[in-house]
Amino acid sequence: MTKSIKKIAVLTSGGDGPGMNAAIRSVVRSALYNGLEVKGVMHGYDGLINDEVIDLDHRSVANIISRGGTFLKTARSPEFKNEEGQEKVVKTLKKYGIDAVVVIGGDGSYAGAFDLYTKWKIPTIGLPGTIDNDLSGTDQTIGCHTAVNTALEAIDKIRDTSHSMERIFVVEVMGNHSGYIALQVALGSGAEDVIVPEKEFDYDAMYEDIKKGHAKGKISWMIVVAEGAGKAHEVAKKVTEVTGFESRYVVLGHVQRGGAPTASDRILATRVGAAAVDCLLKGEYGKAVGVVQDKINVVDLGQACSMNVVSIDEYCQLIKILT
Ligand code: ADP
Ligand code: F6P
Repeated sequence: MTKSIKKIAVLTSGGDGPGMNAAIRSVVRSALYNGLEVKGVMHGYDGLINDEVIDLDHRSVANIISRGGTFLKTARSPEFKNEEGQEKVVKTLKKYGIDAVVVIGGDGSYAGAFDLYTKWKIPTIGLPGTIDNDLSGTDQTIGCHTAVNTALEAIDKIRDTSHSMERIFVVEVMGNHSGYIALQVALGSGAEDVIVPEKEFDYDAMYEDIKKGHAKGKISWMIVVAEGAGKAHEVAKKVTEVTGFESRYVVLGHVQRGGAPTASDRILATRVGAAAVDCLLKGEYGKAVGVVQDKINVVDLGQACSMNVVSIDEYCQLIKILT
């Protein structure tokens, strides 16, 4: 069913990621270019429950393309998951005459946008905003490239001290269910081991490798662990217990979610933002917009919520070959 879209809202939801501001800017300016009115919703789905809706114009999004975070703020909204919460959202949308909503977020936010479309017939579009790169229908998500670069830069610095003091380092990166950042930075930094939630890890083999490496004169060892696969302090403690070598650990944490977006994240955000408006104008609702092989790719929201399959085995094998 196609309805005439005159006024849209945009919101950011779930964990923030660098490039979300660039996506908002693109949605707003593309909508205005096409003669639509645009509202901004503060604090994700909570803002639609609690009536936090603001006017957006051309100037509202000036000078934000290079800024990390999201000026609309973001939140996790437990209330939105139940029917009463969603009813309040629909009421707020009606109050403002909003015809469609563009949701920038990760898999949870996509599930919410899917609900709004399937259960409440609200035209929605999802844009992939998460550092975890765990959505289907897009090669990359907005924020993941910046997060990987931030983590990589930190690991390079840790490697300097690790090498100088001949220590083992365990670095914990973000990713509760997704090993994407861990795999990328492990390969990119020349780490010796990577531990991810998607794959069972052979700790005994690692202890043996560390001992053999040491016997051959290897003086530092970098282990990257995704937060959902293990805790850095526990891994470091055990490594020292079993091998007898000194270790330290670092939890990179939320530093990975901040900072100016890389060129790649800004460009992705800008392209999908404009494509979201195109979809709504064409009457394509309940869709997620991504970029695959440098082309805009539109899939059903329900389909996009599932995890991307990355080449985990290839990455892990290569890391071992190059150790
Ligand atoms: P992300 O979008 O980064 O994955 P979350 O998983 O925290 O972050 O989801 C963001 C918000 O999306 C949640 O706080 C909730 O309001 C909504 N949401 C998450 N999962 C669902 C679901 N299964 N159904 C409806 N809404 C959901
Ligand atoms: O989904 C993005 C993400 O950064 C995950 O990688 C991480 O597990 C989670 O959010 C952290 O959430 P919070 O900011 O609530 O600690």
